[in-house]
Order: sequence, then C-alpha cells, then structure tokens
Amino acid sequence: MKKISITLFALMLLGACGSGGDKKEAAPAPASAGSSLSSNPDYQKGLELIAKSDCLTCHKVGEKLIGPSYKDVSAKYESNDVKGGQGVWGQIPMTAHPQLSEADAKQMVKYILLLKTAQ
Ligand code: HEC
Repeated sequence: MKKISITLFALMLLGACGSGGDKKEAAPAPASAGSSLSSNPDYQKGLELIAKSDCLTCHKVGEKLIGPSYKDVSAKYESNDVKGGQGVWGQIPMTAHPQLSEADAKQMVKYILLLKTAQ
C-alpha cells in the first residue's frame, strides 16, 4: 500500500515537471537549480524522506496544491523555525505526522529551506 502511493506521488511530480515536453525529469528539483544543490547531501536526504512520506499528497515544490508549495515555504522562512499547524497559509490544517522522527522531520525541513537557494 505504501509503495503504491509513493509511486503515485512520484508519477504526479514527474507529470508536473514534464507536461508539454517528452523529456522525463528524474528529480522534482527546479530546473534552475545548479548541480551544487542537487548534489547537496541535505537536499538529497530530505527529498528522499519527503518522497517516502505522504507530504507530496498536499505539497509540490513549485506549485500550490492543498498545502503551500515548498518554494513558498522556503521563501517565507529564514531558518528552521517552521512550526506547522494551521492558519499560516490559509484555513486548511495540515495533518500531524506523529510517526515521523524529529530527526527525519528536521531533515525534510532542511531540504525545503534549501530550495530557497535555487530561486
Ligand atoms: C493533508 C494534506 C497535507 C499533508 C499530507 C502534508 N501537508 Fe504540509 N501543509 C498542508 C497545509 C494545508 C499547510 C498550510 C497550513 C497552514 O495554513 O498553516 C501545510 C504547511 C506545511 C509547511 C509550512 C508550515 C508553516 O509553519 O508555515 C511545511 C514545512 C509542510 N507543510 C511540510 C510538510 C511535510 C514535510 C509533509 C510530510 C511529512 C507534509 N507537509 C504533509 C497540508 C499537508
């Protein structure tokens, strides 16, 4: 079940990146991101964790879905003071993810904040 949803999210992302072209992008990284960003271990690890969790149901990197895009989050925050919750971006609450370890959550946030450097 979990594997199936991961595949679905990955396909959604790929579809979003590749619309209009027949080029297939392997990663949801912004096209303008330099190779320095995608080779950053924090970026790779965070992206991996986010891809494994359910985050991509509601979030995309460059486009608002149910939740704000990660680029928007990244642009809004200077450091690691991302709290989650409700009312920051709108009236839709984000579900809690108690199954995530704090270390994993921090790693995901590191990835999101790194997106800022790609803008
Ligand atoms: C059920 C849909 C949903 C899922 C699943 C989800 N989010 Fe969210 N997320 C939201 C919404 C809606 C908001 C905006 C909440 C608000 O207005 O404060 C949000 C906000 C955020 C923010 C910004 C928080 C802030 O304080 O501004 C971050 C970072 C974030 N999500 C990361 C994640 C990560 C990482 C995951 C996976 C572990 C995830 N989200 C899974 C819907 C979701």
